[in-house]
Amino acid sequence: MNKELLEREGQAHILRFWDRLSVSERDSLEAQISKLDFASINRMRGMLLNRSNGAASAVEPEPAPVEHLCCPEEKAKARAKGEEALRKGQVAVVLVAGGQGSRLGFEGPKGAYPIGPITDKPLFYFHARKILALSKRFGASIPFYVMTSEANDAATRECFAQHDFFGLPREDVFFFSQGMWPALDPDGKIILDAPGHIFMSPDGHGGILSALESSGATADMARRGITTVFYFQVDNPMVAIADPEFIGLHLIKGADISIKVCAKRDPQEGLGMVVTRNGRFEMVEYTEFTDEQKNRRDADGELYFKFGSVAIHVFDFDFLRKEANAALPLHIAHKKIAMCADDGSIIKPEKPNGFKFEKFVFDVIPDAKNVLNLAFDRADEFSPVKNAEGGDSPFSCRHDLQAKWIRWFKECGIEIPLDAEGLPINRIEIDPATADNAEALKDYLASNSVKTDSIINI
Ligand code: UTP
Repeated sequence: MNKELLEREGQAHILRFWDRLSVSERDSLEAQISKLDFASINRMRGMLLNRSNGAASAVEPEPAPVEHLCCPEEKAKARAKGEEALRKGQVAVVLVAGGQGSRLGFEGPKGAYPIGPITDKPLFYFHARKILALSKRFGASIPFYVMTSEANDAATRECFAQHDFFGLPREDVFFFSQGMWPALDPDGKIILDAPGHIFMSPDGHGGILSALESSGATADMARRGITTVFYFQVDNPMVAIADPEFIGLHLIKGADISIKVCAKRDPQEGLGMVVTRNGRFEMVEYTEFTDEQKNRRDADGELYFKFGSVAIHVFDFDFLRKEANAALPLHIAHKKIAMCADDGSIIKPEKPNGFKFEKFVFDVIPDAKNVLNLAFDRADEFSPVKNAEGGDSPFSCRHDLQAKWIRWFKECGIEIPLDAEGLPINRIEIDPATADNAEALKDYLASNSVKTDSIINI
């Protein structure tokens, strides 16, 4: 039994209802205890009790340099380099999909959210079909590694299975679960949310570094000869997965990590920013910026900290693997957590009562020798589904998806009739495996016709 260990760690209160638990409740509590990572829990407790959230650095951050791939020759060079890596089967794609999606409030994994404007196809569909399109175009397999969490792993696998893996070869799709961490009360004690159950939540998207290694995903990548890993988040169906120009520029620059950045919508937009400080690159969360820093302007009236990250990255494979055991900083959040009272009843708090901890993937940036920031146009590649309504919602995302497809048609010489709000009078949806960019749409239209006076679902 783990009693001694728990006493040593100051967490023996977890067993305070032991005598009244059933055999199966005891088994499941024991199983939870055996998985607790006390090294991390002690770091959390230290951080909480000493309030040592790494006192803000006294050194002023400076915006990191940003590349704009404008010159046609540079673009072509980068593209050729990226295409070469794709053709050689050296590129893997990883997706972080272990989050809880609490703002969206959707039952089930966020990747299963029906986003297709006509078909209601899920977010996973749009990601997987882009990988399928690339893999066909370059005649190589592009393995797809999907990070889930305990709460959504089974439902994620089921969503893929139900849709026949969206056409991807099964052997090229690899699911793995991220780690789970307990939450602590203000005294650093692990929180029970039932007499025989520890409250656990995912350890943050930074959990991908250790989970890739412990699940055997990186070993699988090594076996396949992967050199370059494209990373993205589940909520953005506009993302240009494994964009050859981005991958090519990353390779040409010999970067350990590359980051796509876009001009912020407004000074308050909640994007992290890549900065340089003490001669190193780092990502600063927008909550850590002062209002003065957020609103600061340069001589031309442009925001001084103008470019934000939307969590689209390319990693050098060796760098990613080296970072598997990195002791990433912990990020703390004060939350409302259902909690078991001393009499065993469950209290649903009205105010935050406990602390959750997470690792963020961008905290590996200071370890990178070479970092590339590449600017991109958000209208083409970024419209996340974060909230149930308003900005960054399913509504705004479907609008932005269709606006992009309308632009593609325009590039192909076809005007789509629009309503007063700029939306197509008849809805549009394009399967990324039919066309994942305007050029591919042109190829499709060379041998297929579309009617613009009815819905376009191709
Ligand atoms: P968000 O920060 O948007 O969190 O995650 P979320 O859990 O999806 O949504 P909210 O905040 O509860 O509303 C950004 C990306 O990181 C992944 C998410 O699945 C999403 O793709 N993520 C987040 C993980 O994979 N694991 C985590 O522990 C946290």
